[in-house]
Amino acid sequence: MEPRILSAETNDEDRCAELLAAAFANDPLMAQIWPELGERKRSLPLYFRTSLRSHHLAGGGVEIAVGQDGAATSVAVWDPPDHWQQPITSTLRAAPHLLQALGTRTRAALRIRRTLDHHHPRAPHWYLVNIGTRPALSGQGFAGALLDNRLAVCDETQMPAYLVCTREENLSLYEKYGFRVTEVFTLPASGPTMWSMWRDPAMPS
Ligand SMILES: CC(C)(COP(=O)(O)OP(=O)(O)OC[C@H]1O[C@@H](n2cnc3c(N)ncnc32)[C@H](O)[C@@H]1OP(=O)(O)O)[C@@H](O)C(=O)NCCC(=O)NCCS
Repeated sequence: MEPRILSAETNDEDRCAELLAAAFANDPLMAQIWPELGERKRSLPLYFRTSLRSHHLAGGGVEIAVGQDGAATSVAVWDPPDHWQQPITSTLRAAPHLLQALGTRTRAALRIRRTLDHHHPRAPHWYLVNIGTRPALSGQGFAGALLDNRLAVCDETQMPAYLVCTREENLSLYEKYGFRVTEVFTLPASGPTMWSMWRDPAMPS
């Protein structure tokens, strides 16, 4: 049975952040920000809650797949065209909580942010910032349903999509949905490899 897909509201902030924190606990980009696992696990919920609240939720592109019991199984964070750069107002609003989440790793996180921004395409597109499935529920089609949902809108509106793949083993997942690698780069301080991936909308039939 296809999962139900909901558009996240402000009051979904906590459950989205908690799910994303669980999904991204072993992510190479997050591990570059917080190399120590315990610190990473403690910091990720506040980090995701803050970025959802200060920027992504307002764009209307955060989507939740829910299972039959109504519990969130997977979350996709999309920024709409021309909204991938956080305005200074939302950065300032987020600063106290972000500083709390990042602590001594703030400088490392800022360098990573600059690198990601440097490689970010300027042409209008939907930006898949994060997608994560609750680890115990992986492989059941929840992330795929979220990708299908938003990419159908991309096709209808003839809008490209972009993401940064943080793990080599996820490349084939995104390729299955029509993304292609456009650039390969590494994060600062001898960090892990990242893959920029772009998807042109399907031709209208
Ligand atoms: C990557 C992730 C979001 C996939 O979520 P999921 O709910 O398990 O994915 P699905 O079950 O919907 O799988 C969708 C399709 O991709 C395939 N797939 C899933 N994970 C894959 C992987 N790592 N590599 C290749 N294919 C993969 C599935 O076989 C499925 O194909 P199908 O539609 O032909 O059956 C999930 O594993 C996750 O949260 N990982 C940790 C966070 C992360 O790495 N996020 C992405 C950062 S780039």
